Amino acid sequence: MAEQTSGDPLFRSHDPIFNRKELLHVGHVPDEDRIVGRDDEIQSVAAEVGAITRGDPPNNVMIYGKTGTGKSLISRHVATRAQDAARSNEIDCAVLYVDCSEANTETRATRQLALNLKEQTGYQQNIPLRGVGTMEYYQHIWEILEDCFDAVIVILDEIDKLDNSNILMQLSRAREAQKTDTYIGVIGISNKVQYRETLDERIDSSFGHRELFFHPYDASQLREIMRNREDAFQPGVLEGGTIELCAALAAKKHGDARKAIEILKEAGELARRTGSETVSEAHIKQAQEVAEINRIEELTSGATVHAKLALYALASRIITGGRETYKTREIYERYVGICELVANDPITENGLYRQLKEQAFLGVIESEKTGGGRSQGSYLLHRLVTDPKHIVKAVRRDSSLEELPTYDQLHETSPSATNRELDLDSFS
Ligand SMILES: Nc1ncnc2c1ncn2[C@@H]1O[C@H](COP(=O)(O)OP(=O)(O)O)[C@@H](O)[C@H]1O
Ligand SMILES: [Mg+2]
Repeated sequence: MAEQTSGDPLFRSHDPIFNRKELLHVGHVPDEDRIVGRDDEIQSVAAEVGAITRGDPPNNVMIYGKTGTGKSLISRHVATRAQDAARSNEIDCAVLYVDCSEANTETRATRQLALNLKEQTGYQQNIPLRGVGTMEYYQHIWEILEDCFDAVIVILDEIDKLDNSNILMQLSRAREAQKTDTYIGVIGISNKVQYRETLDERIDSSFGHRELFFHPYDASQLREIMRNREDAFQPGVLEGGTIELCAALAAKKHGDARKAIEILKEAGELARRTGSETVSEAHIKQAQEVAEINRIEELTSGATVHAKLALYALASRIITGGRETYKTREIYERYVGICELVANDPITENGLYRQLKEQAFLGVIESEKTGGGRSQGSYLLHRLVTDPKHIVKAVRRDSSLEELPTYDQLHETSPSATNRELDLDSFS
């Protein structure tokens, strides 16, 4: 698929930058020998679900780790290999994958499982798309499993986005409750280690499971991951040092392979847009900024306007006040002023505190408890995980908030300005 030509000269163009761009798509699954630095993790996941290949019951497993650490990739990879190995032992094993960030309710998730199973088999019954509840979907699932499979591996990706954990209970109790004889192994994946605690509260012991933790990639692993996809570009287009720089930047930020690959792709697009023949270090740096703002926007996209204003308040304090961390109270004061600016009724300080906690959960900020001396009691200090400039940009992309001061406008205010001195009216 190197060069595409069509009859109309308008579309008959040779891409000067990209050769096989699909290698840089997020969903792209690299060949086995292009998976870098995850041998131990592959072994560990295989050890939990591998019993299936010998006709024995598997363990359930929960995988935790930040985004872009290869959790989805490794889970799918091991599940597919287990399926192949099972097949060669004449064991019929299904692999089901649910992205719970999209199928984020029990009804949606069970519907997807049922439809997915139907697709993989010759199941004749109609599975309604709407108007029925989870019980009916479970019925179809048990029936297809019972009829067609000895075992199944169910990958529940981004499971923390699911509104409840009943599906885990149903899957782990199915045999006991004599719904089906099929062995069921669940691989649950969460980007948030904090989900571990809520999981313990939500489920009982029937979902016995092992836990695995995936760590961020270091610069040399990221370098190798990108080197393996170098042929996404035309020969000679990537200038020397660009992959190294990209890996170093991504390793410093979050060790996220997805971001590293995205930055590389964005840098290529920048080069193409600006008519450059090569991808330079400057393109990588610029692409990294864009990627970071996108990341923040993605993280905050589901957030309420008040969460965004809270983040903006913290960012603007950091920009104008020069400190790295601020107390909830200090952020609240600024937040109230900002609410006035965008004609929004402020929520209470306690409400704001909850919004900040939610953002800490998402990984946009870090909050740390500090003992404030004997008389003061302890209080929380909040810091931004990213450059405040990116927060300001990402928040202002919300069309209802685009009137907020820009980074440059904030930056021009005196660094020592207190909240009262900062004349927010001057920006409007
Ligand atoms: N070890 C690896 N080797 C090669 N590519 C990888 C590796 N880990 C991740 N990737 C790539 O990085 C991107 C993100 O990986 P993914 O598995 O989706 O991360 P996670 O699920 O932890 O967020 C994918 O495009 C994937 O192909
Ligand atoms: Mg994933």
